[in-house]
Amino acid sequence: MRGLKGKRAIVTGGARGIGRAAVERLLEEGARVAVIDQDADACRGLQTALPEILTICADVADKDQLEQAFTEIAEILSGLDVLFNNAGISAPSPFLELSVTQWRRTMAVDLDGVFLCAQAAARRMAQGVIINMGSVSGLLGMPRYADYNAAKAGVIELTRTLALELAPAVRVVCISPGYVLTPMQEAEYTADRMAALNARIPLQRHADPAEIAALVAFLASDEAPFITGSNLVIDGGESAGGTASL
Ligand SMILES: NC(=O)c1ccc[n+]([C@@H]2O[C@H](COP(=O)([O-])OP(=O)(O)OC[C@H]3O[C@@H](n4cnc5c(N)ncnc54)[C@H](O)[C@@H]3O)[C@@H](O)[C@H]2O)c1
Repeated sequence: MRGLKGKRAIVTGGARGIGRAAVERLLEEGARVAVIDQDADACRGLQTALPEILTICADVADKDQLEQAFTEIAEILSGLDVLFNNAGISAPSPFLELSVTQWRRTMAVDLDGVFLCAQAAARRMAQGVIINMGSVSGLLGMPRYADYNAAKAGVIELTRTLALELAPAVRVVCISPGYVLTPMQEAEYTADRMAALNARIPLQRHADPAEIAALVAFLASDEAPFITGSNLVIDGGESAGGTASL
């Protein structure tokens, strides 16, 4: 990928799952990578496995923690070129049982966190790229995920507005994966559940986190200089028919 060598990148939620795959891919491409993640144990494990990265334990929903983290990272890396705004949470709940506490926490991490990190990053970028993590859940209705779906729809719209305000110096792009097989899901799925979900996806499988990481690396690189304000769906065709998954 052209233009990633030496780029200074932050990946939020980079200690595991899709974020971790993106960290590994960006490192392979020669970028200098810092991770912000709230899971202290996972951060320690990541730091041991990849000593060349910088890891900071912080909550993306906490403005003060983030301000400190972005200041420290930008100082150590002498600037910032790429933000992968990836940290997110989700938990299923029927709408009539969805608590205000859960609604607010999902919004705080999945939408406020994206806003806070994008602002902290853009203020420190002379030129750069912000890649926000959306989801097909932000495009389609999906029962039992009202909070998550609403937050991800917000991320997609926030991306468009930021792309307009931050151009031409900073490109802002959203990616919207469908089902991605991260270790957490793998542990939760029964074989039957996995087969039922795969049957709804035209490509008949979940994505591997590395496939999402490849899109992130492309968007962050000089191979994608004319892409901004877009929402790129990467879902094996799941949303092509316009129907909701379960
Ligand atoms: N896995 C999927 O099928 C899928 C599909 C579409 C979109 N996504 C989105 O991709 C992103 C990553 O998902 P994943 O499956 O890799 O999840 P994951 O749970 O495996 O990893 C998420 C990481 O984010 C960190 N994190 C969570 N809350 C945080 C907070 N408040 N502050 C800092 N770090 C925090 C966690 O500690 C973890 O390391 C999320 O935004 C998710 O909504 C996932």
